[in-house]
Amino acid sequence: MASLMTQQMTPQEFLAMRDFIYARCGIWFSESKQYFLENRLNRRIGELNLKSYKTYLDVLQGAQGRDEMKLLFNEITTNETSFWRNPPQIEAFQKIVLPDAVALAKARMSSKFRIWSAACSSGEEPYTLAMVCQEAKDTLLRGMSVEIIATDISEKVLAQAREGNYGSYTLRNLTPTQVKQHFIAKGPESFEARPELKQMIQFKNFNLVDYPGYRTLGSFDIIFCRNVLIYFDEQVKIKVLKGFFEQLQPKSYLLVGHSESIHSFNAGFELMHFSKAMGYRKRS
Ligand SMILES: C[S@@+](CC[C@H](N)C(=O)[O-])C[C@H]1O[C@@H](n2cnc3c(N)ncnc32)[C@H](O)[C@@H]1O
Repeated sequence: MASLMTQQMTPQEFLAMRDFIYARCGIWFSESKQYFLENRLNRRIGELNLKSYKTYLDVLQGAQGRDEMKLLFNEITTNETSFWRNPPQIEAFQKIVLPDAVALAKARMSSKFRIWSAACSSGEEPYTLAMVCQEAKDTLLRGMSVEIIATDISEKVLAQAREGNYGSYTLRNLTPTQVKQHFIAKGPESFEARPELKQMIQFKNFNLVDYPGYRTLGSFDIIFCRNVLIYFDEQVKIKVLKGFFEQLQPKSYLLVGHSESIHSFNAGFELMHFSKAMGYRKRS
């Protein structure tokens, strides 16, 4: 197996690879990220026994390019996530956003409630949302069916998400009662999401730069897009937010990561302050 452990990308290779990646998935690697990119690509190049990054780019642009691109996405994405990530925001979802959005859906006479977890990684976010909805199924959500569409571009994390198996460390943010209520113990260290949660979620491969594809996902009552906009530049953010705007029901909510602001691009959204968290709401 060829090893490129010490081989650096030439400046031309870096620029060509960076532009290619940006065009395919919107992730923008600045010059300071060259080392990161080299590291991430090294393994694939070694596995394919290729001699240079240039040759790897040729593969990506050639006949096998589509398949290789899936593996490239697995390598270059950062999939860090957790259950109950940003607890004040999940609490705001539970106590304010969900009740409000359900009231709007009921006012529209809709019996289906739809949430999009855009960039769901290995599933911790959509399963968290499903847990909250499951706990409200006989109260707030009585008479409504809930559909959570959870999307990502990495097949690797989507496969983990579909399995819904998590270790006890991954479940550390949940209370023992929540673990018992929502997971089946498969072993001392292994827990599988209960069928009621799994049935609520549809996992799909969806690339957020597939702008015409947004419509195929349908309309949503709430969109979560947390901790992915940070990888995009302004141009991509504007288009992604436009896509969300168009897929959201009137007056519905968009929740982004706590370090992300859509302020300068958000003509259609108003900023909402919750206790210790923020969110956006479509103006009309
Ligand atoms: C840091 S994780 C965030 C996971 C979760 N939303 C959270 O906040 O815990 C970012 C995810 O965005 C996904 N991603 C990156 N670019 C994407 C794109 N163009 N389309 C869809 N997903 C993308 C990555 O594969 C990764 O799983």
